[in-house]
Amino acid sequence: MVFFVKSLDVTELKKSNVLVTGTNQQGKSLLAMAISETLHYQGILQNWRIIVFDTVGHWKKKSSVPYFVEVKKLQKIKIPEHSIIFDISYLLPSEQRQFIEFTLLDLWNSSLDKPVKNYTLLVFEECQLIARRLRSKVSEQFMRIASVGANIGIRCLAITPSLTGIDPEYTRLSNQRYHFKLGNESNIKKKFRSFYGLDWTRVALKLDEGFFIYYLNGKLAVKHINLYESETKPKQLHLQKKQKQNNFTQYKKGFWNRLAWWYDPEGMKEAIKRRDQKLRPRVTKEINKQEEEQQQIDDEFEEDFILVIEEEDL
Ligand SMILES: Nc1ncnc2c1ncn2[C@@H]1O[C@H](COP(=O)(O)OP(=O)(O)OP(=O)(O)O)[C@@H](O)[C@H]1O
Ligand SMILES: [Mg+2]
Repeated sequence: MVFFVKSLDVTELKKSNVLVTGTNQQGKSLLAMAISETLHYQGILQNWRIIVFDTVGHWKKKSSVPYFVEVKKLQKIKIPEHSIIFDISYLLPSEQRQFIEFTLLDLWNSSLDKPVKNYTLLVFEECQLIARRLRSKVSEQFMRIASVGANIGIRCLAITPSLTGIDPEYTRLSNQRYHFKLGNESNIKKKFRSFYGLDWTRVALKLDEGFFIYYLNGKLAVKHINLYESETKPKQLHLQKKQKQNNFTQYKKGFWNRLAWWYDPEGMKEAIKRRDQKLRPRVTKEINKQEEEQQQIDDEFEEDFILVIEEEDL
């Protein structure tokens, strides 16, 4: 049976973002997994794609998002059409930030020309990593999607220990908030108090596991969620390098060409290269330098990777 988060307001989610905060081991991640399940399995009419950036490595073990991929080095991966967990727990924090940023850029570009039929929820574990200061250049893609992504059907769910770890701009952009037990540090309490006042701060300090203060459009209430457990586990996808196009195809047409290729393939490649060099216009040093720099960037991120399903379960 599909787990259902009753408090979740899906109509509101299409307009704004979600924020989940709370001190350690209170149920933040499990709530986010339950929300993902609620959305992903809602039905054919409203299919949500869930994309998780998991900095901790829990989602592949505990959630019901259908696929996961382990990202072990900084590389470009095209976002698939289906829900997926990017397990980025193997990367250094700076690399995780970069990975998220260029994946979001790809998502933004690929969503621009498409009509909004289905919605996408982006889930960020340990969101303080990218959203501490939204105006900084390191999180400009995140900032853009959090503020105007609704127009292209993309919304965010950020998980972070406290309101101090996240830019107030993101909190403002989140009309649904789930606040689990508040940490006891004075700056954390002060920040919470500045948002919700003394009475709610006292309540937040006393919450038990699974209880949270739910904020929706200015209204607050204490709510509870049952312990979430997924019935299905994600399947692993593997990265496979895209096959490079053989650029000699055009020279392989016709009987005599095919015969020549069969007789001496290396010689044919050499001849084509020599011919191309003769045809190439004279290049200035400047252009050469630009090409070299571009090559360096390409080498760094290598090719785009595609995702391949491995059939066995974990
Ligand atoms: N709804 C719940 N009811 C009772 N216990 C819960 C509930 N949710 C979580 N817990 C308990 O809290 C533990 C941690 O849950 P979870 O990983 O979601 O916490 P977290 O807030 O994400 O922790 P962390 O800060 O380490 O990321 C669970 O293993 C479970 O024992
Ligand atoms: Mg967690």
